[in-house]
Amino acid sequence: MSAAKRRRVAVVGATGVAGQQFLVSLKNHPWFEVKRLAASERSAGKKFSDAIKDASSGATRWFCDEPCPKEFLSITVEHAEKLILDDIDIVFTAIESDAAKIVEPIYAARVPVVSTASAFRYEKDVPVFLPGVNIDHAALVAVQRKNRGWKGFVTPGPNCTTVGLVFSLKPLYERFGIGSVIMTSMQAVSGAGRSPGVLSFDILDNIVPYIPKEEEKVQTETQKILGKIDNGTILSAPFNVSCTCTRVNVIDGHTESVFVGLQNKASLQDVKNAWRDGYAEFLSLGLPSAPPELVHYTEEPFRPQPRLDRNMNDGMTTVIGRLREDNVLPNGIKYVLLSHNTKMGAAKGAVLTGEYLIKTGIIE
Ligand SMILES: NC(=O)c1ccc[n+]([C@@H]2O[C@H](COP(=O)([O-])OP(=O)(O)OC[C@H]3O[C@@H](n4cnc5c(N)ncnc54)[C@H](OP(=O)(O)O)[C@@H]3O)[C@@H](O)[C@H]2O)c1
Repeated sequence: MSAAKRRRVAVVGATGVAGQQFLVSLKNHPWFEVKRLAASERSAGKKFSDAIKDASSGATRWFCDEPCPKEFLSITVEHAEKLILDDIDIVFTAIESDAAKIVEPIYAARVPVVSTASAFRYEKDVPVFLPGVNIDHAALVAVQRKNRGWKGFVTPGPNCTTVGLVFSLKPLYERFGIGSVIMTSMQAVSGAGRSPGVLSFDILDNIVPYIPKEEEKVQTETQKILGKIDNGTILSAPFNVSCTCTRVNVIDGHTESVFVGLQNKASLQDVKNAWRDGYAEFLSLGLPSAPPELVHYTEEPFRPQPRLDRNMNDGMTTVIGRLREDNVLPNGIKYVLLSHNTKMGAAKGAVLTGEYLIKTGIIE
């Protein structure tokens, strides 16, 4: 482990919702130094401060609660396809999947790429890391390099809705086994990004009961991330996951109502203990972006609520509440969780993954 060496990083998609969160997460970071920013042709050649201005109104489109770190405002944004990598050790990407399919292989040929895009998530030789959950999937890095002839590699994070769900399931899967999972999400508008985004006329006073491709993503990814690595491939976790994903009138923070059928009966206290203790080993690493708790259980029956709880530990903690027995699924339990979609669910989660890969020597 050589965390002491400061890695030079590029942020691709820096002008977008997740990209801006990268900048906030990387400000004064002890292990990473932002050297380059990139985005589409639209922004290329502009100073970052101009690239985030709306072309017609001139309004600054900055989406984070925190102010934009001043040191990034004067950096000239590069075109993602022409990003210079000579002085870059790691690339963080926050662009749509179609664009990621083109540029991530160009970067991965030379350096590690930690992505928020779905472009490579479902490829057999690509690990989808979630900190504290599946570092054993790192065995795929060597397979990917060999298959593709890359010096670096691509590791996308999960879809933002998968993140909180898997954090809640992992300790239960380990201790009690899981037979089935049913989940309904109530997802924030920032999860749709800036472009195409969600129209205010569609979402105000409303709930939209469909998010294209989201349910399939959450189902497949949950099984992949909790799957077992075997002989250079991942065997998906054998339980079924069934989801309904909806968009609600909330800015940040995805809420999920979860029903789990356990393989072995557990009391509600057993379940709470599993959440309390499930990530002790990972948390003992003391990584710079790690929160004190990856999951937090609240006994308050009216919580979690997006407005009150999404920023717990800077949006890096999945807040769970309303744990009850369920009498429909075998050994059933049910609960509500809340996870910050642009913090742990995207940029700061990816930064934490980068730290974890350095700490474990997967990024040298
Ligand atoms: N928002 C979330 O909560 C969230 C959570 C998890 C994962 N993600 C994933 O993160 C990625 C970015 O999402 P977002 O919500 O940040 O989207 P967004 O706000 O729409 O931002 C998109 C970014 O991609 C850039 N871009 C667009 N077309 C490009 C191209 N052809 N080549 C290079 N760059 C291009 C844009 O640059 P310009 O400004 O120049 O157009 C902008 O920087 C997506 O893959 C998304 O699925 C998002």
